[in-house]
Amino acid sequence: MAQAQASRDAAGLVTVRTVAALREVVGAWRRAGETVAAVPTMGALHEGHLALVRRAKAEADRTVATLFVNPRQFNQQSDLASYPRNETRDAALFAKLGVDLLFAPDVAEIYPPGFATTVSVGGLTDCLCGKMRPGHMDGVATVVCKLFTQIQPDVALFGEKDYQQLLVVTRMARDLDLAVRIVPVATVRDADGLALSSRNEALSPAERAIAPLLHRVLSSIAARAAGGQHDVTDDLARGVETLTQAGFTKVDYLEMRDAEGLAALARADRPARVFGAAWLGPTRLIDNVPVG
Ligand code: PAF
Repeated sequence: MAQAQASRDAAGLVTVRTVAALREVVGAWRRAGETVAAVPTMGALHEGHLALVRRAKAEADRTVATLFVNPRQFNQQSDLASYPRNETRDAALFAKLGVDLLFAPDVAEIYPPGFATTVSVGGLTDCLCGKMRPGHMDGVATVVCKLFTQIQPDVALFGEKDYQQLLVVTRMARDLDLAVRIVPVATVRDADGLALSSRNEALSPAERAIAPLLHRVLSSIAARAAGGQHDVTDDLARGVETLTQAGFTKVDYLEMRDAEGLAALARADRPARVFGAAWLGPTRLIDNVPVG
């Protein structure tokens, strides 16, 4: 029955929209002894997503990509409404890279009427985007937990650009004994350093010209912090000024934090990263770089 719900598009990609159909396809792979990788996405694909797929194909026999714009991780309705959507283009890119199955459910399949459960990861979500976007990290943890229980992948791939998300998902999988290995994939950047993001499409030419400054500021603070002796408190404050003077409309945060537990740091006396989130008009950009 579920088999009838799987459809192959013009590019040859098999797409399923229900959990039952997903389980039937993945179950057949499992019975054949094959391993499975999951690449969760919200679509609007760019090279960063494609790097996740390439890595997935190297990690497991089969790759399931998901395409679901998760309403629970948007704290503003306008942001959800304007999120770029183009399933036909995304499916063609997945097909080209050899994705074996696309899971593209609608909202009612993931959150049926009466859905009442939230997965919340404490501590790690109290800062950075977790603090600035109330409910966002719970929305991510909830949907990723569902995708993991639906697909039951051996391995799942997440980009380091959303570094807090990567830590939250890793902790959630560990705390809930989910048998999935989380593999981080390095941020993919344009030649001028701007981290690729589906949100970059919304930048005007003038904003696009300013945008790479975020990465330059993070990198220069990380360089000064390397070695662990230098206190970056003043550098962080100057970084905010630099971004604002260059035309960033608002800086949500510019902080150095411990790379594992996200404790705030003035000196990089342990593995650390510098994190930034800033607005260019209506577009919010985030990025982070390792220290050393
Ligand atoms: O990083 C994303 O695109 C989303 O947060 C994710 C992991 C697909 C969950 O909706």
